[in-house]
Amino acid sequence: MTKIMVIGSSSMDLVVTAPKRPLAGETLLGDSFKTVPGGKGANQAVAASRLGAEVYMVGCVGTDRYGEEIVKNLQQNGVNTDFVEVINGESGTAHIVIAEDDNSIIVVQGANRHVTPELVSRAGEVLSESDMVLIQQEIPVETVRYVSRLCKKLNVPLILNPAPARKTEQEVIEAARFLTPNEHEASLLFDGMGIQEAIRKYPGKLFVTQGMQGVRYFDGKKEVVVPSYPVNVVDTTGAGDTFNAAFAVALSEGKGVEKSLQFANKAASISVSKFGAQGGMPTREDVGNG
Ligand code: RIB
Repeated sequence: MTKIMVIGSSSMDLVVTAPKRPLAGETLLGDSFKTVPGGKGANQAVAASRLGAEVYMVGCVGTDRYGEEIVKNLQQNGVNTDFVEVINGESGTAHIVIAEDDNSIIVVQGANRHVTPELVSRAGEVLSESDMVLIQQEIPVETVRYVSRLCKKLNVPLILNPAPARKTEQEVIEAARFLTPNEHEASLLFDGMGIQEAIRKYPGKLFVTQGMQGVRYFDGKKEVVVPSYPVNVVDTTGAGDTFNAAFAVALSEGKGVEKSLQFANKAASISVSKFGAQGGMPTREDVGNG
């Protein structure tokens, strides 16, 4: 069993479905409201665990009701929560509108602001024994920097999923072993560079996800597009997280890049067939061995 550490956010998703999104100043009647576990870090941890990895989550929750539910959900999904700290205050929340076949999300960081370098350093021993570390950008910039330095020092491969989009330090980009932005995130990450130029600059390292078009990268000789699987889409929330987790699992099992991307695309395609970020995340049985 491979060991994966996920360092990131854990939140409660407050999800409204509606026929369309409101304009500024407009009030609309929605169709439904649900609270479901989310947060990019927790989503990736749950997805990797369902796919068969031993997963450690490093994160923070608040002292509110959501905090308890988030931790319980991680544990029920087999994720180790020894490094999930309870912080006095509110848990992270994501305010999601699903309308016209897509989502819009506002994230309120809450306890996720407290995912600090100190917390990560307490998990240092487990990190040093991990086959892969996964990190995203719903936690402080200094923590992402610290993790990238630590992984480089300890020679532990790091996947940086630079979501949500924000300017990322060059040092962090260089230290990560794999980068998995979507097109929008890639344009911020490589300011002024087109995708074609960026993937050529980082062969075998930069993988740009393009939704239904698949994943694009440069293998050192040629550009490769690994196509996505056709699916019946119910909710795309968490598809990127499932992709990243599955990519991490496959790579750490020793699958090559192309096979790992096929495995990740398959897992992501299954994840969108049910409601909620984690609702459709597949088990290993669902995806197979790729
Ligand atoms: O990637 C999907 C996640 O982004 C949601 O679960 C929500 O919590 C937001 O952070």
